[in-house]
Amino acid sequence: MNPAEPNSPVDAAPVRSSDSCAMVIFGAGGDLTKRKLIPALHNLALDNLLSRQFAVIGFATTGYNTESFRDQLRQDLGNYSSRPINEEIWEWLARRIYYVRGSFDDAEAYERLEATIAEASAEHGAHGNLFHYLAVAPRFFGTIVRRLEVAGLAKETSGQWRRVIVEKPFGRDLDSARALNAEIKQVMGERQIYRIDHYLGKETVQNLMVFRFGNGIFEPIWNRRYIDHVQITAAETVGVERRGGYYETAGALRDMVPNHLSQLVSLTAMEPPFSFDANAVRDEQAKVLHALQPYSPEDVLSKTVRGQYGEGQHDGESVPAYRAEPRVAPDSRTETYAALKLTIDNWRWAGVPFYLRTGKRMAKRCTEIAIQFRRAPFSLFRRTGAGSPTQNRLVIRIQPDEGIALTFGAKMPGTVMRQGEVHMDFSYADHFGGPPSTGYERLLYDCMIGDQTLFQRADMVEAGWALIQPILDVWSVLPARTFPNYAAGTWGPPEADELLARDGRVWGKMPR
Ligand code: BG6
Repeated sequence: MNPAEPNSPVDAAPVRSSDSCAMVIFGAGGDLTKRKLIPALHNLALDNLLSRQFAVIGFATTGYNTESFRDQLRQDLGNYSSRPINEEIWEWLARRIYYVRGSFDDAEAYERLEATIAEASAEHGAHGNLFHYLAVAPRFFGTIVRRLEVAGLAKETSGQWRRVIVEKPFGRDLDSARALNAEIKQVMGERQIYRIDHYLGKETVQNLMVFRFGNGIFEPIWNRRYIDHVQITAAETVGVERRGGYYETAGALRDMVPNHLSQLVSLTAMEPPFSFDANAVRDEQAKVLHALQPYSPEDVLSKTVRGQYGEGQHDGESVPAYRAEPRVAPDSRTETYAALKLTIDNWRWAGVPFYLRTGKRMAKRCTEIAIQFRRAPFSLFRRTGAGSPTQNRLVIRIQPDEGIALTFGAKMPGTVMRQGEVHMDFSYADHFGGPPSTGYERLLYDCMIGDQTLFQRADMVEAGWALIQPILDVWSVLPARTFPNYAAGTWGPPEADELLARDGRVWGKMPR
């Protein structure tokens, strides 16, 4: 790759700063605020993307006041900022940070919240625009939204917007997701609801659309005529860390598939939207999700695999089995690995399987989409001993080491005809450089300018759950008997290899 002009955008429009507004963070005492949200706001301010008329109000049960909250956030920023802290910017931001202590179900606390929002908005000129970030356990979503309605903090008035950002998990199955959508929609319209999937904050996920639709050469071959199958991997080396309590009620399938992996499937498989307008893009994504062939109970047995890690090795150190992790039952049947074969019932993708896999405590941290192209129709060089034709493979690396690589065959130098496999590799970091982000900057900014493209619409969330509901049903009546069935630090259970082997395929080699 030629890094001649690493940062020159093609036909870039000038970027405007966010709308004037106030942001309320529910659950502001938690991890998300210190690890992601405040560092992201600091980065937005550094890049001049945050309106000068801005204020943040933290709302939680933790025993801070405004002063101690600001002090704590400054300390946390030192640990979690993705970029060097600019003290001047921090001081500017800190003056705009407030704290209200209260419980999410306490009407009186909402009165204090309302008074603080009014004070902060007046002081910093937020123009009555307001968004609520629900960084709380899902059981509070409904309560908070109802309380916001009563407190008059959810209704839009002329020229003043009100929005809500909801974190995942959005429900725990299809019925609960539908119920939650219905509950929130009693208070706010779809236009006001921003359901976050943090995968969509990743540069490389956003780049999928630019790669496919901003270039002329890929779209014509992006279909069943040229593509043999697609593999999507989201592998983590970490175990469940301190999240055993949550994970026991979720498992790998719920945690990753209806949300993050479904997003990757829809962005890979969608038709070109007619515009980059939020609904035009999301309509096309939704069509893919609705075209996913539903699993029959028999399909669940033959097209899905689940696994749970036993003890093993990570970085040369012994690590415990899932069942020995804190807050995990010693006989837990929760899966920490899931692999699925998906079929998309439309003309572009009929007969092209999408294989998905995700797991904790895998051999390597790696999220990628691999497009496996068909072989050349016949082997021209077969009599020369050159070897069989290469199956071209395009790998979009989401993380880490973000980039795109294409594998193709080339003649090896020498008098005899021999074919070798070579890689053309584009690395984001080498080419563009750029300061590291938290992944939340874009999502917060988009909410502040009212762009819902990177947020999940109600029908998309429900379609994600509809995909896995038959699997949840079958897995719950047939609890896994062979857990643990893969050692920590490996590529998952052998059944996942068999899933592809039955189709005459193998999982792609991962970087070491
Ligand atoms: C979260 C899941 O949504 O995504 C976690 O709850 C998982 O279990 C995480 O570790 C993966 O995100 P990332 O950005 O680290 O790939």
